[in-house]
Amino acid sequence: MRIVVGVGGGIAAYKACALVRRFTETGHQVRVIPTESALQFVGKATFEALSGQPVSTSVFTDVPEVPHVRIGQEADLVVIAPATADLMARAAQGRADDLLTATLLTARCPVLFAPAMHTEMWEHPATVANVATLRAHGATVMEPASGRLTGTDTGPGRLPEPEEIFGLASLLLERPDALPRDLEGRRVIITAGGTREPLDPVRFLGNRSSGKQGYALARVAAQRGASVTLIAGNTVELAPPAAVDLVHITTAEQLATAVDKHAVGADAVIMAAAVADFRPTNVAAAKIKKGANEPDVIPLTKNPDILAGLVTARTEGRLGDTAIVGFAAETGDENGDVLTHARAKLARKGCDLLVVNAVGEGKAFEVDTNDGWLLGADGTESALDHGSKALLASRVLDALIPLLH
Ligand code: CTP
Repeated sequence: MRIVVGVGGGIAAYKACALVRRFTETGHQVRVIPTESALQFVGKATFEALSGQPVSTSVFTDVPEVPHVRIGQEADLVVIAPATADLMARAAQGRADDLLTATLLTARCPVLFAPAMHTEMWEHPATVANVATLRAHGATVMEPASGRLTGTDTGPGRLPEPEEIFGLASLLLERPDALPRDLEGRRVIITAGGTREPLDPVRFLGNRSSGKQGYALARVAAQRGASVTLIAGNTVELAPPAAVDLVHITTAEQLATAVDKHAVGADAVIMAAAVADFRPTNVAAAKIKKGANEPDVIPLTKNPDILAGLVTARTEGRLGDTAIVGFAAETGDENGDVLTHARAKLARKGCDLLVVNAVGEGKAFEVDTNDGWLLGADGTESALDHGSKALLASRVLDALIPLLH
Protein backbone atom coordinates (compact mmCIF):
# COMPACT_ATOMS: atom_id res chain seq x y z
CA MET A 1 0.00 0.00 0.00
CA ARG A 2 1.02 3.63 -0.48
CA ILE A 3 1.34 5.42 2.81
CA VAL A 4 2.08 9.08 3.39
CA VAL A 5 3.67 9.86 6.73
CA GLY A 6 3.28 13.55 7.50
CA VAL A 7 5.59 14.86 10.20
CA GLY A 8 4.81 17.99 12.21
CA GLY A 9 7.38 20.19 13.94
CA GLY A 10 7.57 18.83 17.46
CA ILE A 11 10.21 17.01 19.44
CA ALA A 12 8.30 13.73 18.94
CA ALA A 13 9.27 13.95 15.23
CA TYR A 14 12.10 11.55 16.03
CA LYS A 15 9.51 8.85 16.77
CA ALA A 16 8.20 9.20 13.21
CA CYS A 17 11.43 7.47 12.12
CA ALA A 18 10.42 4.27 13.93
CA LEU A 19 6.96 4.51 12.38
CA VAL A 20 8.34 4.92 8.84
CA ARG A 21 10.59 1.95 9.43
CA ARG A 22 7.68 -0.18 10.66
CA PHE A 23 5.70 0.60 7.49
CA THR A 24 8.58 -0.11 5.11
CA GLU A 25 9.48 -3.34 6.93
CA THR A 26 5.93 -4.59 6.46
CA GLY A 27 6.14 -4.01 2.71
CA HIS A 28 4.43 -0.63 2.35
CA GLN A 29 5.64 2.17 0.08
CA VAL A 30 6.19 5.21 2.25
CA ARG A 31 6.41 8.84 1.26
CA VAL A 32 7.47 11.13 4.11
CA ILE A 33 6.27 14.75 4.01
CA PRO A 34 7.62 16.82 6.88
CA THR A 35 6.69 20.41 7.59
CA GLU A 36 9.50 22.95 7.38
CA SER A 37 9.68 23.06 11.20
CA ALA A 38 9.81 19.23 11.46
CA LEU A 39 13.17 19.47 9.69
CA GLN A 40 14.44 21.44 12.71
CA PHE A 41 14.14 18.16 14.64
CA VAL A 42 14.98 15.43 12.10
CA GLY A 43 17.03 15.91 8.94
CA LYS A 44 15.66 15.31 5.45
CA ALA A 45 18.35 12.72 4.79
CA THR A 46 17.08 10.54 7.65
CA PHE A 47 13.57 10.40 6.19
CA GLU A 48 14.92 9.83 2.67
CA ALA A 49 17.12 6.97 3.82
CA LEU A 50 14.34 5.34 5.86
CA SER A 51 11.67 5.64 3.16
CA GLY A 52 13.85 5.24 0.09
CA GLN A 53 11.90 8.15 -1.46
CA PRO A 54 12.69 11.83 -2.02
CA VAL A 55 11.55 14.18 0.72
CA SER A 56 10.34 17.72 0.27
CA THR A 57 8.26 20.20 2.23
CA SER A 58 7.28 22.50 -0.60
CA VAL A 59 4.84 22.36 -3.51
CA PHE A 60 7.54 24.08 -5.62
CA THR A 61 9.85 21.06 -5.70
CA ASP A 62 9.52 18.80 -8.73
CA VAL A 63 6.74 21.01 -10.15
CA PRO A 64 6.13 19.08 -13.45
CA GLU A 65 5.13 16.04 -11.34
CA VAL A 66 2.42 18.14 -9.57
CA PRO A 67 3.30 16.44 -6.27
CA HIS A 68 0.81 18.39 -4.14
CA VAL A 69 -2.03 16.75 -6.05
CA ARG A 70 -0.59 13.40 -7.07
CA ILE A 71 0.78 12.21 -3.71
CA GLY A 72 -2.55 12.77 -1.96
CA GLN A 73 -4.63 11.28 -4.75
CA GLU A 74 -2.54 8.12 -4.90
CA ALA A 75 -2.28 7.49 -1.14
CA ASP A 76 -4.06 4.56 0.53
CA LEU A 77 -3.54 6.12 3.95
CA VAL A 78 -2.15 9.36 5.38
CA VAL A 79 -0.71 9.26 8.90
CA ILE A 80 0.33 12.48 10.60
CA ALA A 81 2.77 11.82 13.46
CA PRO A 82 3.35 13.96 15.37
CA ALA A 83 0.34 16.16 14.67
CA THR A 84 1.14 19.47 16.34
CA ALA A 85 -1.47 22.05 17.41
CA ASP A 86 -0.40 24.32 14.56
CA LEU A 87 -0.52 21.59 11.92
CA MET A 88 -3.99 20.48 13.02
CA ALA A 89 -5.17 24.12 12.99
CA ARG A 90 -3.97 24.52 9.42
CA ALA A 91 -5.49 21.18 8.37
CA ALA A 92 -8.82 21.99 10.04
CA GLN A 93 -8.99 25.27 8.12
CA GLY A 94 -8.19 23.62 4.82
CA ARG A 95 -5.02 25.64 4.33
CA ALA A 96 -2.61 24.53 1.61
CA ASP A 97 0.51 26.48 2.51
CA ASP A 98 2.96 23.59 2.28
CA LEU A 99 3.17 20.19 0.60
CA LEU A 100 1.72 18.35 3.62
CA THR A 101 -1.44 20.44 4.00
CA ALA A 102 -1.94 20.46 0.20
CA THR A 103 -1.67 16.67 0.27
CA LEU A 104 -4.29 16.49 3.04
CA LEU A 105 -6.70 18.41 0.82
CA THR A 106 -6.30 16.07 -2.13
CA ALA A 107 -6.28 12.78 -0.19
CA ARG A 108 -9.52 10.78 -0.27
CA CYS A 109 -8.19 7.85 1.76
CA PRO A 110 -8.37 7.40 5.56
CA VAL A 111 -6.36 10.04 7.45
CA LEU A 112 -4.98 9.37 10.94
CA PHE A 113 -3.66 12.18 13.14
CA ALA A 114 -1.46 11.19 16.11
CA PRO A 115 -1.29 14.37 18.21
CA ALA A 116 1.66 15.42 20.36
CA MET A 117 1.82 18.68 22.27
CA HIS A 118 1.80 20.08 25.77
CA THR A 119 -1.33 19.39 27.83
CA GLU A 120 -2.31 23.07 27.86
CA MET A 121 -2.19 23.18 24.06
CA TRP A 122 -4.19 19.92 23.75
CA GLU A 123 -6.86 21.21 26.13
CA HIS A 124 -7.05 24.73 24.67
CA PRO A 125 -10.53 25.44 23.21
CA ALA A 126 -8.94 26.29 19.85
CA THR A 127 -7.31 22.85 19.62
CA VAL A 128 -10.45 21.13 20.93
CA ALA A 129 -12.46 22.84 18.17
CA ASN A 130 -9.88 21.96 15.50
CA VAL A 131 -9.89 18.29 16.56
CA ALA A 132 -13.71 18.28 16.39
CA THR A 133 -13.57 19.82 12.90
CA LEU A 134 -11.04 17.27 11.65
CA ARG A 135 -13.19 14.44 13.03
CA ALA A 136 -16.30 15.95 11.44
CA HIS A 137 -14.37 15.96 8.14
CA GLY A 138 -13.87 12.20 8.51
CA ALA A 139 -10.32 12.05 9.85
CA THR A 140 -9.38 9.89 12.82
CA VAL A 141 -7.67 11.97 15.51
CA MET A 142 -6.12 9.69 18.09
CA GLU A 143 -6.36 10.36 21.79
CA PRO A 144 -2.81 11.21 22.89
CA ALA A 145 -1.07 9.22 25.58
CA SER A 146 -0.48 10.60 29.05
CA GLY A 147 2.93 10.74 30.63
CA ARG A 148 6.22 12.51 30.44
CA LEU A 149 6.27 15.44 28.01
CA THR A 150 9.25 17.55 27.02
CA GLY A 151 11.04 18.78 30.11
CA THR A 152 9.56 17.71 33.42
CA ASP A 153 5.86 18.15 32.56
CA THR A 154 3.46 15.21 32.56
CA GLY A 155 -0.15 14.91 31.35
CA PRO A 156 -2.14 14.06 28.23
CA GLY A 157 -0.38 15.15 25.05
CA ARG A 158 2.32 12.57 24.60
CA LEU A 159 2.62 10.99 21.16
CA PRO A 160 1.19 7.45 21.28
CA GLU A 161 3.94 4.86 20.83
CA PRO A 162 4.89 4.20 17.15
CA GLU A 163 3.69 0.60 17.56
CA GLU A 164 0.25 1.81 18.60
CA ILE A 165 0.06 4.29 15.71
CA PHE A 166 1.14 1.48 13.38
CA GLY A 167 -1.57 -0.80 14.80
CA LEU A 168 -4.36 1.74 14.32
CA ALA A 169 -3.06 2.68 10.86
CA SER A 170 -3.11 -1.01 9.89
CA LEU A 171 -6.65 -1.28 11.25
CA LEU A 172 -7.76 1.62 9.03
CA LEU A 173 -6.20 -0.14 6.03
CA GLU A 174 -8.18 -3.29 6.89
CA ARG A 175 -11.36 -1.39 7.68
CA PRO A 176 -11.51 2.38 6.95
CA ASP A 177 -14.60 2.89 9.15
CA ALA A 178 -13.26 0.98 12.18
CA LEU A 179 -12.83 4.03 14.44
CA PRO A 180 -16.03 6.10 14.65
CA ARG A 181 -16.47 8.20 17.82
CA ASP A 182 -19.48 6.16 18.90
CA LEU A 183 -18.31 5.39 22.46
CA GLU A 184 -17.93 8.99 23.63
CA GLY A 185 -19.23 9.43 27.17
CA ARG A 186 -19.22 5.66 27.78
CA ARG A 187 -17.26 3.92 30.55
CA VAL A 188 -15.98 0.49 29.56
CA ILE A 189 -14.12 -2.05 31.70
CA ILE A 190 -11.99 -4.58 29.85
CA THR A 191 -10.05 -7.49 31.36
CA ALA A 192 -7.09 -9.02 29.54
CA GLY A 193 -4.35 -11.61 29.87
CA GLY A 194 -4.08 -14.68 32.03
CA THR A 195 -4.20 -15.00 35.79
CA ARG A 196 -1.40 -16.69 37.75
CA GLU A 197 -2.22 -18.78 40.79
CA PRO A 198 0.80 -19.19 43.09
CA LEU A 199 1.96 -22.55 44.40
CA ASP A 200 4.95 -21.20 46.30
CA PRO A 201 7.05 -18.02 46.05
CA VAL A 202 8.53 -19.06 42.68
CA ARG A 203 5.87 -21.18 40.96
CA PHE A 204 2.37 -20.68 39.69
CA LEU A 205 -0.40 -22.25 37.63
CA GLY A 206 -0.93 -20.10 34.55
CA ASN A 207 -2.19 -20.21 31.00
CA ARG A 208 -1.15 -19.22 27.50
CA SER A 209 -3.21 -16.05 27.14
CA SER A 210 -1.05 -13.25 25.67
CA GLY A 211 -3.46 -10.42 26.51
CA LYS A 212 -3.28 -9.15 22.93
CA GLN A 213 -7.02 -9.41 22.24
CA GLY A 214 -7.98 -7.57 25.44
CA TYR A 215 -5.38 -4.86 24.78
CA ALA A 216 -6.68 -4.45 21.22
CA LEU A 217 -10.21 -4.04 22.59
CA ALA A 218 -9.03 -1.41 25.08
CA ARG A 219 -7.08 0.47 22.41
CA VAL A 220 -9.91 0.50 19.89
CA ALA A 221 -12.57 1.37 22.51
CA ALA A 222 -10.45 4.30 23.78
CA GLN A 223 -9.93 5.59 20.25
CA ARG A 224 -13.69 5.33 19.68
CA GLY A 225 -14.07 7.77 22.57
CA ALA A 226 -14.74 5.50 25.57
CA SER A 227 -13.22 6.04 28.98
CA VAL A 228 -11.51 2.68 29.40
CA THR A 229 -10.20 0.83 32.45
CA LEU A 230 -8.05 -2.10 31.37
CA ILE A 231 -7.54 -4.69 34.11
CA ALA A 232 -4.58 -6.75 32.98
CA GLY A 233 -3.19 -10.01 34.27
CA ASN A 234 -0.10 -11.64 32.88
CA THR A 235 0.53 -10.72 29.25
CA VAL A 236 3.37 -10.92 26.79
CA GLU A 237 5.26 -7.63 26.65
CA LEU A 238 2.65 -5.16 25.42
CA ALA A 239 2.84 -1.37 25.29
CA PRO A 240 0.15 0.21 27.50
CA PRO A 241 -2.57 1.59 25.18
CA ALA A 242 -2.78 5.39 24.99
CA ALA A 243 -5.59 7.09 26.94
CA VAL A 244 -6.47 3.97 28.94
CA ASP A 245 -6.35 3.49 32.75
CA LEU A 246 -4.32 0.37 33.34
CA VAL A 247 -4.74 -1.74 36.49
CA HIS A 248 -2.43 -4.73 37.02
CA ILE A 249 -3.55 -7.89 38.82
CA THR A 250 -2.01 -11.34 39.23
CA THR A 251 -4.56 -13.84 40.58
CA ALA A 252 -8.21 -14.55 39.77
CA GLU A 253 -9.22 -13.33 43.22
CA GLN A 254 -7.42 -10.01 42.64
CA LEU A 255 -9.13 -9.77 39.26
CA ALA A 256 -12.52 -10.37 40.92
CA THR A 257 -11.81 -7.60 43.45
CA ALA A 258 -10.71 -5.16 40.74
CA VAL A 259 -13.75 -5.93 38.57
CA ASP A 260 -16.06 -5.45 41.60
CA LYS A 261 -14.47 -2.08 42.27
CA HIS A 262 -14.61 -0.72 38.71
CA ALA A 263 -17.70 -2.35 37.15
CA VAL A 264 -20.42 -0.65 39.22
CA GLY A 265 -22.12 1.91 37.01
CA ALA A 266 -19.97 1.11 33.96
CA ASP A 267 -21.69 0.99 30.57
CA ALA A 268 -20.03 -2.29 29.66
CA VAL A 269 -17.70 -4.95 31.00
CA ILE A 270 -15.78 -7.12 28.54
CA MET A 271 -14.21 -10.20 30.10
CA ALA A 272 -11.41 -11.08 27.69
CA ALA A 273 -9.12 -12.32 30.48
CA ALA A 274 -8.29 -16.01 30.72
CA VAL A 275 -9.24 -16.63 34.33
CA ALA A 276 -7.91 -19.73 36.08
CA ASP A 277 -10.89 -21.79 37.23
CA PHE A 278 -8.89 -23.25 40.13
CA ARG A 279 -6.08 -22.15 42.43
CA PRO A 280 -3.80 -24.24 44.64
CA THR A 281 -5.57 -24.58 48.00
CA ASN A 282 -2.35 -24.08 49.93
CA VAL A 283 0.35 -21.64 48.92
CA ALA A 284 3.66 -22.76 50.43
CA ALA A 285 5.44 -19.95 52.27
CA ALA A 286 8.84 -21.30 51.15
CA LYS A 287 9.96 -22.92 47.92
CA ILE A 288 8.73 -26.52 47.62
CA LYS A 289 11.81 -28.78 47.58
CA LYS A 290 12.56 -32.24 46.27
CA GLY A 291 13.09 -34.71 49.11
CA ALA A 292 11.14 -35.48 52.24
CA ASN A 293 7.84 -33.60 51.73
CA GLU A 294 7.37 -33.94 47.98
CA PRO A 295 3.71 -33.31 47.06
CA ASP A 296 2.20 -36.01 44.83
CA VAL A 297 -1.06 -34.12 44.33
CA ILE A 298 -1.84 -30.43 44.39
CA PRO A 299 -5.22 -29.79 46.02
CA LEU A 300 -7.19 -27.13 44.15
CA THR A 301 -9.93 -24.72 45.18
CA LYS A 302 -12.43 -23.29 42.73
CA ASN A 303 -12.06 -19.59 41.88
CA PRO A 304 -15.08 -17.31 41.67
CA ASP A 305 -16.70 -17.18 38.22
CA ILE A 306 -16.36 -13.43 37.67
CA LEU A 307 -18.46 -13.28 34.51
CA ALA A 308 -21.36 -15.22 36.02
CA GLY A 309 -20.99 -13.09 39.18
CA LEU A 310 -21.40 -9.90 37.13
CA VAL A 311 -24.61 -11.23 35.61
CA THR A 312 -25.94 -12.11 39.09
CA ALA A 313 -24.96 -8.66 40.42
CA ARG A 314 -26.84 -7.01 37.55
CA THR A 315 -29.93 -9.16 38.12
CA GLU A 316 -29.87 -8.27 41.82
CA GLY A 317 -29.55 -4.55 41.01
CA ARG A 318 -26.01 -4.16 42.40
CA LEU A 319 -24.39 -3.20 39.09
CA GLY A 320 -26.62 -0.97 36.96
CA ASP A 321 -27.61 -1.48 33.34
CA THR A 322 -24.12 -2.64 32.41
CA ALA A 323 -23.80 -4.66 29.18
CA ILE A 324 -21.75 -7.82 29.81
CA VAL A 325 -19.56 -9.51 27.22
CA GLY A 326 -17.81 -12.85 27.72
CA PHE A 327 -15.18 -14.70 25.76
CA ALA A 328 -15.00 -18.43 25.13
CA ALA A 329 -11.90 -20.23 23.95
CA GLU A 330 -13.03 -23.66 22.84
CA THR A 331 -11.44 -26.67 21.15
CA GLY A 332 -14.45 -28.95 20.61
CA ASP A 333 -14.36 -32.55 21.86
CA GLU A 334 -16.34 -35.80 21.73
CA ASN A 335 -19.30 -34.04 23.39
CA GLY A 336 -19.67 -31.38 20.72
CA ASP A 337 -17.99 -28.94 18.37
CA VAL A 338 -16.79 -25.42 19.23
CA LEU A 339 -20.17 -23.76 18.62
CA THR A 340 -22.14 -26.37 20.58
CA HIS A 341 -19.93 -25.76 23.62
CA ALA A 342 -20.12 -22.00 23.08
CA ARG A 343 -23.93 -21.92 22.92
CA ALA A 344 -24.06 -23.89 26.17
CA LYS A 345 -21.55 -21.48 27.76
CA LEU A 346 -23.58 -18.43 26.73
CA ALA A 347 -26.69 -19.92 28.36
CA ARG A 348 -24.74 -20.93 31.47
CA LYS A 349 -23.04 -17.57 31.98
CA GLY A 350 -26.07 -15.42 31.09
CA CYS A 351 -24.01 -12.62 29.47
CA ASP A 352 -25.35 -10.49 26.60
CA LEU A 353 -22.70 -11.35 24.05
CA LEU A 354 -20.17 -14.16 23.79
CA VAL A 355 -17.07 -13.87 21.58
CA VAL A 356 -16.08 -17.39 20.57
CA ASN A 357 -12.59 -18.35 19.40
CA ALA A 358 -11.51 -21.78 18.28
CA VAL A 359 -8.16 -22.45 19.96
CA GLY A 360 -5.33 -24.94 19.51
CA GLU A 361 -3.00 -25.53 16.53
CA GLY A 362 -1.55 -22.01 16.51
CA LYS A 363 -4.95 -20.29 16.67
CA ALA A 364 -5.98 -17.37 18.90
CA PHE A 365 -3.31 -17.70 21.62
CA GLU A 366 -0.15 -15.58 21.34
CA VAL A 367 -0.63 -14.78 17.61
CA ASP A 368 -1.63 -11.40 16.18
CA THR A 369 -4.71 -12.53 14.29
CA ASN A 370 -8.01 -14.00 15.33
CA ASP A 371 -11.43 -15.04 14.07
CA GLY A 372 -14.50 -16.72 15.47
CA TRP A 373 -18.17 -16.13 16.11
CA LEU A 374 -20.31 -13.69 18.02
CA LEU A 375 -23.26 -15.20 19.84
CA GLY A 376 -25.96 -12.89 21.22
CA ALA A 377 -28.25 -13.70 24.14
CA ASP A 378 -31.10 -12.91 21.72
CA GLY A 379 -30.11 -15.92 19.59
CA THR A 380 -28.23 -13.98 16.90
CA GLU A 381 -25.05 -15.60 15.62
CA SER A 382 -22.52 -14.11 13.25
CA ALA A 383 -19.07 -15.08 12.00
CA LEU A 384 -16.08 -12.87 12.82
CA ASP A 385 -13.86 -12.92 9.75
CA HIS A 386 -10.15 -13.61 10.07
CA GLY A 387 -8.11 -10.46 10.62
CA SER A 388 -6.02 -8.56 13.15
CA LYS A 389 -7.08 -8.60 16.79
CA ALA A 390 -7.85 -4.88 16.39
CA LEU A 391 -10.24 -5.70 13.54
CA LEU A 392 -11.98 -8.33 15.66
CA ALA A 393 -12.13 -5.78 18.51
CA SER A 394 -13.84 -3.26 16.22
CA ARG A 395 -16.47 -5.86 15.24
CA VAL A 396 -17.11 -6.78 18.87
CA LEU A 397 -17.57 -3.09 19.76
CA ASP A 398 -20.01 -2.68 16.82
CA ALA A 399 -22.11 -5.47 18.32
CA LEU A 400 -21.85 -3.92 21.80
CA ILE A 401 -23.20 -0.48 20.79
CA PRO A 402 -26.89 -1.52 20.43
CA LEU A 403 -26.69 -3.20 23.86
CA LEU A 404 -25.71 0.01 25.68
CA HIS A 405 -28.44 1.73 27.65
N1 CTP B 1 -14.41 -16.37 33.39
C1 CTP B 1 -14.60 -15.71 34.59
N2 CTP B 1 -14.25 -16.33 35.76
C2 CTP B 1 -13.75 -17.58 35.77
C3 CTP B 1 -13.57 -18.27 34.54
C4 CTP B 1 -13.89 -17.64 33.38
O1 CTP B 1 -15.06 -14.58 34.57
N3 CTP B 1 -13.44 -18.14 36.92
C5 CTP B 1 -14.82 -15.69 32.14
C6 CTP B 1 -13.72 -15.47 31.12
O2 CTP B 1 -13.12 -14.22 31.29
C7 CTP B 1 -14.48 -15.56 29.81
C8 CTP B 1 -15.61 -16.53 30.11
O3 CTP B 1 -15.74 -16.54 31.53
O4 CTP B 1 -15.07 -14.34 29.48
C9 CTP B 1 -15.39 -17.93 29.64
O5 CTP B 1 -14.15 -18.42 30.10
P1 CTP B 1 -13.75 -19.93 29.84
O6 CTP B 1 -12.48 -20.20 30.54
O7 CTP B 1 -13.87 -20.23 28.38
O8 CTP B 1 -14.99 -20.63 30.53
P2 CTP B 1 -15.14 -21.46 31.84
O9 CTP B 1 -16.05 -20.74 32.76
O10 CTP B 1 -13.80 -21.82 32.37
O11 CTP B 1 -15.93 -22.73 31.29
P3 CTP B 1 -15.37 -24.20 30.92
O12 CTP B 1 -14.58 -24.64 32.10
O13 CTP B 1 -16.62 -24.96 30.70
O14 CTP B 1 -14.60 -24.03 29.67
